[in-house]
Amino acid sequence: MPDNIKKIALLTSGGDASGMNAAIRATTRYAKYKSLEIIGFLDGFKGLINNNFIDLSSENVGGIIDRGGTILYTARSEEFKTEEGMQKAIANLKKNKIDGLIVIGGDGSFRGVHDLHIRGVKAVGIPGTIDNDIAGTDYSIGFDTALNVIISLISKIRDTAFSHDRLFVIEVMGRNSGMIAVHAGLAGAADYILIPEVQVDLVKIATKIKNHRPGKRHTLIVVAEGAAKASDVAASIKLLVGHEVRVSVLGYIQRGGSPSALDRLLSAEFSKKAVDLLLEGKSDYMTAIQGKEIVAVPLDYVLNNKKIVKKSIYELAHILS
Ligand code: F6P
Repeated sequence: MPDNIKKIALLTSGGDASGMNAAIRATTRYAKYKSLEIIGFLDGFKGLINNNFIDLSSENVGGIIDRGGTILYTARSEEFKTEEGMQKAIANLKKNKIDGLIVIGGDGSFRGVHDLHIRGVKAVGIPGTIDNDIAGTDYSIGFDTALNVIISLISKIRDTAFSHDRLFVIEVMGRNSGMIAVHAGLAGAADYILIPEVQVDLVKIATKIKNHRPGKRHTLIVVAEGAAKASDVAASIKLLVGHEVRVSVLGYIQRGGSPSALDRLLSAEFSKKAVDLLLEGKSDYMTAIQGKEIVAVPLDYVLNNKKIVKKSIYELAHILS
């Protein structure tokens, strides 16, 4: 262990994701196991700029493994994107004698990690976003929990859609990515999935809906927020099909709730890896899972590549519908 790493800091940034608390707990306890001091900046990079932090201890991260959200709070900071904001953050890291920073967040947050790194700060990232849109890792913390929440909501909608012989358009999150929509669509048995990555012809979908297999009493269309608004899709489908269409925008419910077992396991392994990376003197990396391996991916790769939605999964969802 290089003896220059004695004290580290942690923050959560961007949209909260279930499992962030599990990662805060794991990072803190593993850091303590490695005899490191650790503090947590509050409100993401905003707290770093304002020097707003709490001491983290094995005790004060107790009882949070099953809580959604983040006890360190989170924010999207515009000031951090300015040179002035960045310099304030660096000054606070120096003032608090921080030897390494761990940021849990999405690719926007990792841009910040990289910017700090090129200014001499040792910093690494842990992927935490429900969108699972980060290149270099199969999963980000929060995705699995969000999927589980979504498929349970789709099931509830299916109950009412079946009972009333109705067509529903269900909008899910994901920002510019169809990752959530495709996986929730396959696991939730949607009939059609609309994602930004694939152009679709609503006329063709409407024709298929009209020619449903006999006995089918409902249609569920899952639309990624990055592809279209559910209300717009519903209006077009209504015109084409000629009967009522109901809309359900799942919204922020998708981001809450107790983390799944997978998200807790990922949180533990990513946290250990992130602390180990700093102890090895590494910076400008993101922890990742590739297959079954926990690895470190250079942020240069993460920030310059786009995560691809597997076409085979998208196609399979439609084959099985
Ligand atoms: O990145 C996570 C996410 O939930 C996206 O799916 C969504 O587009 C966005 O955050 C919403 O952001 P905000 O919390 O700022 O409204």
